[in-house]
Amino acid sequence: MTGRTMTTASPPAVIETHEVSVTFGGIRALQDVSIDVKDGEVVGLIGPNGAGKSTLLNIISGQSKPDAGSVSFFGNDITRVPVYQRARSGLARSFQSTTVFPTMTVGENIRYAALASRGGQFSWWMGRVRGDRVSVAVREALSATRLEGSEDRPASTLGHGQARGLEVAMLLAAGGRVMLLDEPSAGMAAGDVAGLTETIARARERTGASMVIVEHKISLIFEISDRVAVLDRGTLIAFDTPAAVAGDAAVKKAYLGEDPSLG
Ligand SMILES: Nc1ncnc2c1ncn2[C@@H]1O[C@H](COP(=O)(O)OP(=O)(O)OP(=O)(O)O)[C@@H](O)[C@H]1O
Ligand SMILES: [Mg+2]
Repeated sequence: MTGRTMTTASPPAVIETHEVSVTFGGIRALQDVSIDVKDGEVVGLIGPNGAGKSTLLNIISGQSKPDAGSVSFFGNDITRVPVYQRARSGLARSFQSTTVFPTMTVGENIRYAALASRGGQFSWWMGRVRGDRVSVAVREALSATRLEGSEDRPASTLGHGQARGLEVAMLLAAGGRVMLLDEPSAGMAAGDVAGLTETIARARERTGASMVIVEHKISLIFEISDRVAVLDRGTLIAFDTPAAVAGDAAVKKAYLGEDPSLG
């Protein structure tokens, strides 16, 4: 850690993890990890392979339970609240592997995301009852991600960059207060990453949602994050502004030989 203590008298953090530890068999994936995400804040989560980044997202979304420590959402302990309830109260996540239905159109995928987050059990008749609100959410998500012209295309025909954009659109339509993104730029060509950065920035502007974004593309993280958390072998070694993290000696050491752009 940088040794800096955050003192906030203001509203509770949207998300807080308190000394979260997770072990898989003999492997300690996370050790006493405490982070907080403020309302509307974008927190970038970086670290070498196997550092525990996806595990920490799973702890926040509820996919995994910590062995020790707790998670709170607007000050309420949600450590034992199941995934679907967290999702319904506004915790939305995209997975490291794609969650898009390839044979459905872009519009249907977004509509599905909007309905699933509002209704629990998914059915098309419910869509008609709630049609107006869902349509607005779908329209907004399409425009924020610049997918307006592609609404009727099957998702399988999208390029990789647009497919990741569709995942962001689905998160937007779901209307989450917190968006959890696990390597949104994975597998993208360099040219598409700029578009993704813009899409995420626009999504944030439109919704005011908080975000936790896991990425190996350090430049993307430093550009869009308010603060950057760095995990190394399960331990939080830095959590500060991008500028402070870039200059942090422990971070440089963890990345030595991995990303020369940090050196
Ligand atoms: N379900 C699991 N069962 C056993 N071990 C696991 C499981 N999930 C993660 N691990 C282990 O926990 C550690 C942290 O994994 P995690 O996937 O969180 O890392 P990561 O930072 O997301 O890595 P990457 O950058 O490669 O995605 C690794 O040693 C991994 O092998
Ligand atoms: Mg991962």
